[in-house]
Amino acid sequence: MKIVSIVASLRQDSWNHRLSRAATEVLKGKGVEVEEASLAGLPLFNGDLDDGTFPGPVAALRDAMRSADGLLVASPEYNHSIPAVMKNAIEWTCRPPNCWTNKVVFGMGTTPGRSGGIRMHLHLSDCLQCEGAWLIPRPMLLVPNAASVFGQNGELLDPAVGDQVEEAMTVLVETINTMSGAKA
Ligand SMILES: Cc1cc2nc3c(=O)[nH]c(=O)nc-3n(C[C@H](O)[C@H](O)[C@H](O)COP(=O)(O)O)c2cc1C
Repeated sequence: MKIVSIVASLRQDSWNHRLSRAATEVLKGKGVEVEEASLAGLPLFNGDLDDGTFPGPVAALRDAMRSADGLLVASPEYNHSIPAVMKNAIEWTCRPPNCWTNKVVFGMGTTPGRSGGIRMHLHLSDCLQCEGAWLIPRPMLLVPNAASVFGQNGELLDPAVGDQVEEAMTVLVETINTMSGAKA
């Protein structure tokens, strides 16, 4: 099984990148191949460029997504929504052939504040469901107070969050297995 992870923050010390790393470690422990796709370098979507060919970084992201059995998205909450970098990526990757359709997706997030990113998650769900993705509704993995949860090198300081990550990744793997069995 291969899962492609997408982090919707370009920031070097991103909390969401740390959350994604923690989830990746759990997945690798389950024997899952994880590839991290990059959103860096994606140009802004422009309908004038929408001719069925894709700029290099877009093509790389699309190829990675299409090769995946499932997708893992870690996103900050910006302005009570998803960051522009994520929306831009969705705009590029929904162009035909749509890279989200029938993909199992786990969306998660972390914030330094108290919200955890619930409003980001609602908007992410709307955007991806409209593209035909199967966004796992529960458990939710929205981690508040990131600075007290992740250490300097991304290590998890809070064992309760570790348990939540484990549970969430178990559900992701089980859902992919169930869906692929159902399709056969
Ligand atoms: C433009 C902007 C908008 C933000 N809006 C929100 C918000 O609506 N809710 C929230 O909890 N945090 C908000 N934040 C704070 C982010 O959660 C914080 O910067 C976080 O560290 C970003 O994730 P990252 O560490 O993975 O880059 C915002 C930050 C920026 C720069």
